[in-house]
Amino acid sequence: MKKVLLTLVCLVSCISFVNAQSKSIDLNFNAEKFESQTLTFNGKTFKVRAYENIVYVNNPVDTACQKMNIYIPEEYFSGKSINGYSAATAPIFFPNKVGGYMPSQPASTKSNQMGGGPPLKSEMKLPMDDKKPDGMPPTNGGMPPMGFGGPRQNSVLAALSKGYIVASAGTRGRTSKNASGIYTGKALEGIVDLKAAVRYLKYNDKNMPGDANKIISNGTSAGGAMSTLLGATGNNPDYDPYLKTLGAASATDDIFAVSAYCPITNLDNADMAYEWQFFGINTYRRGGPMQGNPQGASELSAEQIAVSEQLKKLFPSYVNSLNLKGDHGIILSLDKNGNGTFKDLVKAYVVASAQKALNEGTDLSSFTFLTVNNGKVTQMDFDAYVRYMQRQKIPPAFDALDLSSPETNLFGTATINNQHFTEYGEAHSTANATRADALIVKMMNPMNYIGQPNTKTSKYWRIRHGTKDKDTGLAIPVLLATLLENKGYNVNLELPWEKPHSGDYDLDELFTWIDGICK
Ligand code: DHB
Repeated sequence: MKKVLLTLVCLVSCISFVNAQSKSIDLNFNAEKFESQTLTFNGKTFKVRAYENIVYVNNPVDTACQKMNIYIPEEYFSGKSINGYSAATAPIFFPNKVGGYMPSQPASTKSNQMGGGPPLKSEMKLPMDDKKPDGMPPTNGGMPPMGFGGPRQNSVLAALSKGYIVASAGTRGRTSKNASGIYTGKALEGIVDLKAAVRYLKYNDKNMPGDANKIISNGTSAGGAMSTLLGATGNNPDYDPYLKTLGAASATDDIFAVSAYCPITNLDNADMAYEWQFFGINTYRRGGPMQGNPQGASELSAEQIAVSEQLKKLFPSYVNSLNLKGDHGIILSLDKNGNGTFKDLVKAYVVASAQKALNEGTDLSSFTFLTVNNGKVTQMDFDAYVRYMQRQKIPPAFDALDLSSPETNLFGTATINNQHFTEYGEAHSTANATRADALIVKMMNPMNYIGQPNTKTSKYWRIRHGTKDKDTGLAIPVLLATLLENKGYNVNLELPWEKPHSGDYDLDELFTWIDGICK
């Protein structure tokens, strides 16, 4: 009897606790709860209402991350317009600050760092760093160092100065943990957080200036991948159970447009794409944004070269299985040596980039892999171009056989820190590790959702991947853009000349593109 009573008391207090929790978070946007901020951007001073640290779900798991900042130009509260937009029509720019698939803070008018601020104490050193194979430097768990991509403009200020509303959500990431040591931000939690934040914005569309049917997501690298996934998977019911558990606002989560810089996406096919491009380049230089201190050159081992060759050989059948078409209905394919119309298309994007640079006055004479005649870039030696790029990653670039990559850490579970996520990785694991659930791997890949039934994929896409970016293969953005085009979406893909792995470097052009699709 005593036991029954105790259970009853427990039950009642649990229920009231859950009620108290859900009551304490109000998903209705409160227009009165703001701080007035006076901001300056490019010599222009303007006022905004700042609504910061809004928890955007009813059952948050980590309120240090699951919060959103919303900024609204003051003009919209007095019936004025900016740049042709009014309170009813202003688009909502939705940048995320995800880097390295780590936890992220919302962007703010003060901070524009990847990760959104200084790393949390728990992120400073990761269990996986202790497991680095001998001689390899710690990677800080793949956390991009502060200032990732060099000095960058604050996209929040830039967007506000153009009359956009800005909303930015923080997200859980692959190293998020609760007090009991349970991982709370492995795949899929980051994308579910972004979807929940979109639902909050759409749920509050009537109470908030801005048009929630004009949400434009923006992100770089892992953040570009998140932006892409958000745009690809709008309203798909696969994600509903996660959103329900979080207590997301009851609204849709499709978005109008996607801006993605160098998305580290299509992860389960990215190893093959990397080796299709870099097979034969046996010297690698770690470094770049994932590794803080650039290291000297190292050589691939004989085993790693063999892995590279095996992965390269697997790529054509993946590309061919997509049945993609290029201009004039031409079938995009690769033969068993990795040559064919798809390779021609990748080359054509690089040549178009060189041509644009040439037209803008760049001296291309040192790029001996290009043939230039009378102001026209007529040819490119792909192998020589890849040698100029240099290899950055060891095969497999993403599903690392020793589990040392950020992606194997992303595909862990609540209780397993790192897992493989490809058949190849599992079969050749040197860590005897398990493999992630197939549905989770599927749900992390936008290629599986573009234009599918029960899905509202974004109509407009702007994708940028620099010609010197070797964090993932060039085939990845080209496959993404081509699939989108084939399914009838409006895509603008360019590979900016000589740009390394970075983003937000052409905000004026980005906002011109946004104005073009919103007005
Ligand atoms: C990022 C870069 C990578 O090379 C990678 O594998 C994952 C994420 C990033 O910069 O976000």
